[in-house]
Amino acid sequence: MSANPPMPVTPAMQAHPAHNPTASDASSTSRPWLAALAGKFIVFEGADGCGKSTQLSRFAKLCADAGLSVCQLREPGGTDVGERVRTILLDKNSAGMTVRCEMLLFMASRAQLVEQRIAPALARGDLVLTDRFTASTYAYQGAGGGVPDADIASVASVSCGTITPDLTLVFDLCEEAAARRTGVATASKAQSGGSLFADRMEERDRDFFAKVRKGYLDLARREPSRHTIIDASGTPEQVWSLALTTLEARFAKPS
Ligand code: TYD
Repeated sequence: MSANPPMPVTPAMQAHPAHNPTASDASSTSRPWLAALAGKFIVFEGADGCGKSTQLSRFAKLCADAGLSVCQLREPGGTDVGERVRTILLDKNSAGMTVRCEMLLFMASRAQLVEQRIAPALARGDLVLTDRFTASTYAYQGAGGGVPDADIASVASVSCGTITPDLTLVFDLCEEAAARRTGVATASKAQSGGSLFADRMEERDRDFFAKVRKGYLDLARREPSRHTIIDASGTPEQVWSLALTTLEARFAKPS
């Protein structure tokens, strides 16, 4: 069962631009609140198969079309060094890697990303959108792998300094649905000749992903001012509407 019940879509919401993306995705005037995102750092998070990357790309385009300068990044990776660390982490030949080594490599890639890309972008007043950040480490290596939160926190403080996301959106999906989605994605990528998706990280079992999901939900409940849970069980359009409604509620200034 999903943590948040699906939000009923009412006729009034249907009239809202968020529910009619074909008419409005490119319109900046309909969403003046987007201007408040300049200089903010927002992270899209969730277990494999939750659909966060699709939502992030769409949101990045919406913001760029609204005139914002957007710095869109992914983890692990996002820099030359980080992409090389990513190859080691996702490589099936890295099967013997310990969870602490894994945690440190994710953080090493993050340290490079923060210093080389995120801090300068925020200093310029860009909107920084990242596909994963420290919440992934708490969920995967912490809740999933057993590394204590305090250890992750101390390494995160070395890697990120004072750079902290303004908001982390956790796209929440039960393990069964996530497994079905990743299964479909793996099959379609395999058919098209590439199988990057079925990497070392995605080969772990259902039990592991249940722990990862719980890790995300616990983190969001511990720090509700910096995290928000989005029910990712609906169609991409429904999830998009929920994400936009949530972001607007967080960032729109009261008029
Ligand atoms: P990726 O192919 O980028 O998948 P996704 O689209 O799901 O983000 O793979 C990244 C994998 O690395 C994913 O399984 C989550 C995992 N991961 C961690 O275990 N810890 C971390 O700190 C990060 C950033 C990612």
